[in-house]
Amino acid sequence: ALVSPAPTDLDGLHVAVSTGGTREPLDPVRFLGNRSSGRQGAEIAVEAARRGAKVTLVAASVDAGVLDAAAAHPRITVQHVETAAELGGAMSDAATAADVVVMVAAVADYRAARVSEHKLRKEDGPLETIELVPNDDILAGLAAARRDGQTVVGFAAETRDDDLLVRARRKRDRKGVDLLVVNEVGWDAGFGAGENAVAVIGDGGAVVAEASGPKDAVARTIWDAIVALRAAS
Ligand code: CTP
Ligand code: CA
Repeated sequence: ALVSPAPTDLDGLHVAVSTGGTREPLDPVRFLGNRSSGRQGAEIAVEAARRGAKVTLVAASVDAGVLDAAAAHPRITVQHVETAAELGGAMSDAATAADVVVMVAAVADYRAARVSEHKLRKEDGPLETIELVPNDDILAGLAAARRDGQTVVGFAAETRDDDLLVRARRKRDRKGVDLLVVNEVGWDAGFGAGENAVAVIGDGGAVVAEASGPKDAVARTIWDAIVALRAAS
């Protein structure tokens, strides 16, 4: 069989990865969520551990089975969270010891202004609107707090249109990250699928790597790009 040994280029490094989709409660039984499967983030954590890193994987809601390989890996610690606020707290804790921070999670941009203590009932009257308030931008905060020698990587799931790369470059600048991984999503692509197609945007908006195929292969390309960036700086 053609199984090449994993490179050991992350030996001794600490890595913090977030994955999955946050859930913002409306009441004890309902939430606002998204379709992120958590698969790409789990593959990124597993690949980092394969290459020798110690990994903290902060997981919001993921599809069944997605965390199995990560949970079984001796160098990966999985931490479960639900909301954006919890994910932000866990990631800023993990980032204090991390050489590389990778935010793959689909974080809710908004949460409900008020969370009902009891289940919202129709007999209380019709619910016409839900007031929302913005969540903090976790990635921008991590990038702003970045220590010397720490690499911060973001993801952007974008629906296809002509401005995809233009918007992604703006997003990279806005977040202040070293690398922004863009992947195209739609009603059927990206989320949940075993395959993905990404472009990695670096300094000056340059596309420093591209990959398409199974999410574990995409994870390898992303780590190659991170390792190359760290070697160059
Ligand atoms: N992200 C974050 N905190 C948020 C929102 C997003 O840390 N409150 C992170 C995501 O984990 C991802 C990156 O920021 O790594 C980009 O997320 P995205 O939703 O594409 O960016 P937004 O700034 O929320 O822009 P948009 O209006 O396109 O949703
Ligand atoms: Ca968003």
